[in-house]
Amino acid sequence: MAGAGGQLTLESSLPVAGRADINCRDNTVHAMTDKLTIALTKGRILKETLPLLSHAGIEPAEDPATSRKLLLETNHNDVRLVILRGTDVPTYVRHGAADVGVVGKDVLMEHGAEGLYEPLDLEIARCRLMTAAEVGWAAGGSRVRVATKFVNIARAYFARQGLQVDIIKLYGALELAPIMALADLIVDIVDTGNTLRANGMEPLEEIASISSRLVVNKAALRSRHDAINDIIDNLASAVEARRDAKT
Ligand code: PRP
Repeated sequence: MAGAGGQLTLESSLPVAGRADINCRDNTVHAMTDKLTIALTKGRILKETLPLLSHAGIEPAEDPATSRKLLLETNHNDVRLVILRGTDVPTYVRHGAADVGVVGKDVLMEHGAEGLYEPLDLEIARCRLMTAAEVGWAAGGSRVRVATKFVNIARAYFARQGLQVDIIKLYGALELAPIMALADLIVDIVDTGNTLRANGMEPLEEIASISSRLVVNKAALRSRHDAINDIIDNLASAVEARRDAKT
């Protein structure tokens, strides 16, 4: 449980240092450390996660914005941070290489959240997953081509609409696809809408509202119950404080 003043009381609830934590039943192998490992998504999500972690009493030993280190110690001897691409966060947490993680809901929707417990909406990095097209585009007779990096989400979305479309997988700069006549529509993240506007495009339909989520390895939730619940509770307080400060 949370300690006085919202600070973590992790040390008391973690296993004895120096023991590898191998859990055959769950087919997960914790890294050869007893430190509780938090996987963070680099980029904008990281920038918005750090103030929440700070409010929860966790400070990186080095500034992730300037450090090239991917594994960072913190002010807690028994907590460390690993900085990853968002799409790799669920994999690290699912396999127990990290105990908890912070990742966008879009990544969880696209790549699946099996084996993960998702206890908290961190309410950061909010955006929308939308369809978009060049301004004035209208569907013609031919089959619509959709460029996206979210192929599973797009396929499911258009299937729900009863539309047969051709999905074209891209890895970035999706707004180029209609301009270059590679696709008619894109399915992409829209935040300010500036990228769409700057490229002569407009948002059409919202597929999902996105924000970053805390995910937890299910086996770790049992084996490190107290420490992980401290983190969940303290981050929940941080989210609440941030919400209160905004209203
Ligand atoms: C995302 C998304 C859009 C842009 C939307 O790209 O793919 O291009 O942000 O933001 P806006 O509505 O505020 O303009 P990101 O910068 O994350 O790079 P990416 O192309 O690698 O996804």
